[in-house]
Amino acid sequence: MRVAMIGTGYVGLVSGTCFSDFGHDVTCVDTDIAKIERLKAGIMPIFEPGLDDLVARNVAGGRLHFTTDLPAAVAHADVVFIAVGTPSRRGDGHADLSYVHAAAREIARAAKGFTVVVTKSTVPVGTGADLEAIIREDVPEADIAVVSNPEFLREGAAIEDFKRPDRIVVGTDDPRAREVMAALYRPLSLNAAPLLFTERANAELIKYASNAFLAMKITFINEMADLCEKVGGDVQEVARGIGLDRRIGPKFLHAGPGYGGSCFPKDTLALARTAQEAGTPLRLIETVTTLNETRKAAMGRRVLEALSVPPRGATVAVLGLTFKPNTDDMRDSPAINIVQSLIDRGVKIRAYDPVGMEEARKVLPEGIHYASGAYECAEGADALVIVTEWDAFRALDLDRLKAQLRSPIVVDLRNIYPPEDLISRGFTYVGIGRGDLVTG
Ligand SMILES: NC(=O)c1ccc[n+]([C@@H]2O[C@H](COP(=O)([O-])OP(=O)(O)OC[C@H]3O[C@@H](n4cnc5c(N)ncnc54)[C@H](O)[C@@H]3O)[C@@H](O)[C@H]2O)c1
Repeated sequence: MRVAMIGTGYVGLVSGTCFSDFGHDVTCVDTDIAKIERLKAGIMPIFEPGLDDLVARNVAGGRLHFTTDLPAAVAHADVVFIAVGTPSRRGDGHADLSYVHAAAREIARAAKGFTVVVTKSTVPVGTGADLEAIIREDVPEADIAVVSNPEFLREGAAIEDFKRPDRIVVGTDDPRAREVMAALYRPLSLNAAPLLFTERANAELIKYASNAFLAMKITFINEMADLCEKVGGDVQEVARGIGLDRRIGPKFLHAGPGYGGSCFPKDTLALARTAQEAGTPLRLIETVTTLNETRKAAMGRRVLEALSVPPRGATVAVLGLTFKPNTDDMRDSPAINIVQSLIDRGVKIRAYDPVGMEEARKVLPEGIHYASGAYECAEGADALVIVTEWDAFRALDLDRLKAQLRSPIVVDLRNIYPPEDLISRGFTYVGIGRGDLVTG
């Protein structure tokens, strides 16, 4: 089957590459010429474990191509995916659909014969119907079915998630489109991945409802962490006890500095916006978005309070900048809020991230010292903050770390160290949701 993937970002590049690995012929399209040139030269524009090898294998196999020529890619395709960005629209939190609309118009003009156009981008309910109307208005003779097929992959584990998903959701009531989508995903359904066919509006809603639920779960445990701190509980233990209940499950119950990333913040806002416009506000989700912003803002204060010297002129070492490990994605990372609030108070920042520093430089304020490793980062600092739980930070030599720091203070915003390990070595420890151990 011939596939065109419009938008070669985190989702488009991974999905397109995985489809080609299943044997489909895939052309990934992007308007970003530099990105396409890099891909043609075998250089990955993003960090995603295993992606470079998978791309190389499928390019060599002649199944995966990169181009900026959308019309050529679409003209030959049976299925065209729209995987462009849907960021928050400034001001009202609604999903900005301008990239999706632009791509749909270009596709409509270029398509030849029956073509299935699939929204893989996360788009509000009703977008599929709107796209059909836009296409019909622009190119009345186009033989196109618009299908919703939201993507659930997680950055950092994207290939595994794409190849072994919990489910594949396909929203369409067009029998021809259904047949095409079933053929496209056949290699995965052979892997026993449930293929859920539903109405298009349901598919669009399933994506937002899933993300909103997960964001809510994180926010729930973060509030429990706050309570633990006040009443002397340990949120790690509480989460374990809750998560063993199979109705709840252990995932997304790790208290931390608030969720970030390219999806949860914007998708919760957009869902809340959709619900407000429909006259049925989702108060639970509105509260989640507010609590998460408040939490991210509070983390800088937590670090400032841990300092044993005045903030102006103090130095803080920040370990981990990306919104989670195994990605270079800095979008809405809690590190942005933390670093900014420390700099606002006159703190000097030393920072290290195993892969995110190039992206971090684009979004963080100037004047940060980017270190070559965790120990160099800690050199002469008045406190060390762990913001992202990279594996590389999980087993640091604590004595060596202590020798590097000017003041032995660790603020572990991911609870990756047992407090006793730090306290027994003479560190002052601040964690998340560990009431009786907030300071050693
Ligand atoms: N990143 C994730 O983990 C994830 C997971 C599930 C769903 N999603 C959703 O998938 C969509 C894409 O997210 P992403 O993280 O891959 O975004 P991204 O910003 O990494 O990539 C989008 C790409 O689309 C390109 N583009 C924009 N307009 C174009 C056009 N008209 N023609 C061709 N290319 C165009 C951009 O240049 C960019 O390279 C969003 O709706 C997002 O919500 C993302």
